[in-house]
Amino acid sequence: MHSTILQELGYNLHEVNPRLHYFKPNTSKTEKTFAEEISYSLTQNSKFIHPKFFYDQTGSRLFEQICHLPEYYLTRTEISILQFLKNELPQFLDKSYRLVELGSGSSTKTKLLLDILHDLQERVEYFPIDISDILKEGSQSLLESYENLHITGIIDTYEGGLKFIKSFDDTPNLIAFLGSSFGNFEYDDSIRFLHDVNSTMKQSDLFLAGIDLVKDKKILEDAYNDSLGVTAQFNLNVLQRINNELDANFDIDKFYHKAEFNEKENRIEMYLRSKEVQSVNIPKANLSIDFVKDELIHTEHSHKYTVSQIENMMDATNFEIKKIWQDPCQNYSMVLASKIF
Ligand code: AVI
Repeated sequence: MHSTILQELGYNLHEVNPRLHYFKPNTSKTEKTFAEEISYSLTQNSKFIHPKFFYDQTGSRLFEQICHLPEYYLTRTEISILQFLKNELPQFLDKSYRLVELGSGSSTKTKLLLDILHDLQERVEYFPIDISDILKEGSQSLLESYENLHITGIIDTYEGGLKFIKSFDDTPNLIAFLGSSFGNFEYDDSIRFLHDVNSTMKQSDLFLAGIDLVKDKKILEDAYNDSLGVTAQFNLNVLQRINNELDANFDIDKFYHKAEFNEKENRIEMYLRSKEVQSVNIPKANLSIDFVKDELIHTEHSHKYTVSQIENMMDATNFEIKKIWQDPCQNYSMVLASKIF
């Protein structure tokens, strides 16, 4: 791409090797720091920590473990639907598509989609969009697996990355948002997100999203309260992260993990509960906070949807649903949609 166009878009291009590039915005965005966000969220009447902070190195490793737990049906069910799509998706791909992935997801799932494109076309492009971690070790192994693959990472927010791709060229994009990360948005944010995706789509672009479905409360609560306690470690690790990065003195043993399905809101609510009255200092956030016994820190919502709710949301955000696939137990769904022009 011509350097002046890149300049206009406000990105710099970095070449790692001829088949691996990444784009990075050349202006530093004024995002709040971890310390600023924590000092706000832990001083509200209802304390909370944003779930994006789960994913430091330890948190990402624990999340990988969660994805393999017997109770955490989401990952294996999504993989089974992606395997099924091998014979289903090609009928919707009537030209050459580029895979754009929101979040640089698990390489197993990425490969299932790349396999489909690889069987249909001579050249395959993969554009992961992620605020960080875009050139994870996975890239090299993907390049080794497919001779005709070209990877271009975009280190930006989903919104920024999609806008960039819209102005980038006319190649049709298959935009994938996997893993039911959609469920971690609050309702208003999920609608805003769908609007954002829709507004950056071109005529032939397709949007493919993995969305977890409402189901039996016991199955849901077991998935977030696994018997090995990995989800508890994952949840508690966010306090350890505050200790590590902001010099805080959370005593991790003085908090419990708690995850419950709220049937009215159709969502798993995850909290950390203080076992006793206690005070915590967070020097790098200039903060000292008190907890009463049983006080909760809200850490995550994981929304579950019915198929008709998904249809309504897509309808409200200018999408035409091409197909919704579900596994035989109707635990999980994959939605394929295009933009209505
Ligand atoms: C990333 N996200 C879709 C996971 C979920 O199921 O909401 C995060 C998670 N939290 C606890 N277990 C998994």
